[in-house]
Amino acid sequence: MANSMSFFLLLSLLAFAPLCLCHYNQEGYLYPQFYDYSCPQVQHIVKSVLAKYVAEQPRLAASILRLHFHDCFVKGCDASLLLDSSVNIISEKGSNPNRNSARGFEVVDAIKAELERKCPSTVSCADILTLAARDSVVLTGGPSWEVPLGRRDSLGASISGSNNNIPAPNNTFQTILTKFNLQGLDLVDLVALSGGHTIGNARCTTFKQRLYNQSGNGEPDSTLDQYYAATLRNRCPSSGGDQNLFFLDYATPYKFDNSYFTNLLAYKGLLSSDQVLFTMNQESAELVKLYAERNDIFFEQFAKSMIKMGNISPLTNSKGEIRENCRRINA
Ligand code: HEM
Ligand SMILES: *[C@@H]1O[C@H](CO)[C@@H](O)[C@H](O)[C@H]1NC(C)=O
Ligand SMILES: *[C@@H]1O[C@H](CO)[C@@H](O)[C@H](O)[C@H]1NC(C)=O
Repeated sequence: MANSMSFFLLLSLLAFAPLCLCHYNQEGYLYPQFYDYSCPQVQHIVKSVLAKYVAEQPRLAASILRLHFHDCFVKGCDASLLLDSSVNIISEKGSNPNRNSARGFEVVDAIKAELERKCPSTVSCADILTLAARDSVVLTGGPSWEVPLGRRDSLGASISGSNNNIPAPNNTFQTILTKFNLQGLDLVDLVALSGGHTIGNARCTTFKQRLYNQSGNGEPDSTLDQYYAATLRNRCPSSGGDQNLFFLDYATPYKFDNSYFTNLLAYKGLLSSDQVLFTMNQESAELVKLYAERNDIFFEQFAKSMIKMGNISPLTNSKGEIRENCRRINA
């Protein structure tokens, strides 16, 4: 009896496994209506506070989108990135990818403060960041999508996870793909999500190697357009200027569109990690061409891949907590 029961259980698990759309986890799952009764104004509040900040400082849309990515790649989308250092916590904000770079935390704080006034102890910082990332894309002209909700907030951070899991701008194509695969994301997700570099800035230090000494022979990266490289060298000298800012998409820096991909076709990707999507892998190059040609297909895939990234290992049900302040765990 017990045996046939467990056999049946195993059978049904196998039968339903392919239907799992990744937003299911062992404890529960995420769904867009999660706050419909507990905080029906959540989407309105996130969007309106964010819009106020972005109107004053357009780059913040890009910064928030990136924070969501850097949160999800470390222990899942659990707002671990938002924690400041304290007695028990070493903040991810000091990791190599984030130091002098991750920004926009004050926007999350302002959204959280407003939500604590309207729906105290209800909306997680992880959900706030996921919604704000979607709204940042919408505000800059990109696609919209329904965001599955119900994430809870971590009780800790992982600086080693932040250093190891998040790809570096000079990683090889294969290393970057492996880091995405480890998060359950595939090559299609990698190419589409890299399209997030259609907005925002990067510092000189993140691509300087390409301008002067890409492979240790004192030559610039041969996959970087030489005229574009010369322009970049003006404000990114071989020594100094490390913090100078450059548009990731020089063509339409404040517009969420597919010009990131047309730049790659012209060898005008800013980061090595951008250009390798076109130069180092056939399958990836085909997708770059497709997205450069078809903005609609890029938008559709970007939305799908953002939902997939947003569903990485959420804490649900009784796991984690709803932080009152995104910078620290509750007392
Ligand atoms: C594929 C691997 C990726 C690498 C190697 C990478 C690397 C970088 C680097 C080096 C910067 C500049 C940081 C600085 O100079 O301070 C940057 C900025 C940015 N990244 Fe990525 N990134 C990747 C994927 C993504 C993804 C998946 C997204 C979101 C979907 C994203 C969104 C952004 C945005 C919006 C910015 C600009 C942020 C701002 O202006 O504040 N990136 N990225
Ligand atoms: C990548 O950049 C880091 C940090 O600037 C540097 O230490 C490392 O040597 C670079 N790796 C390669 C393969 O060039
Ligand atoms: C380029 O890098 C290599 C290896 O990192 C180094 O030995 C060489 O001196 C550098 N050349 C220049 C011109 O900076």
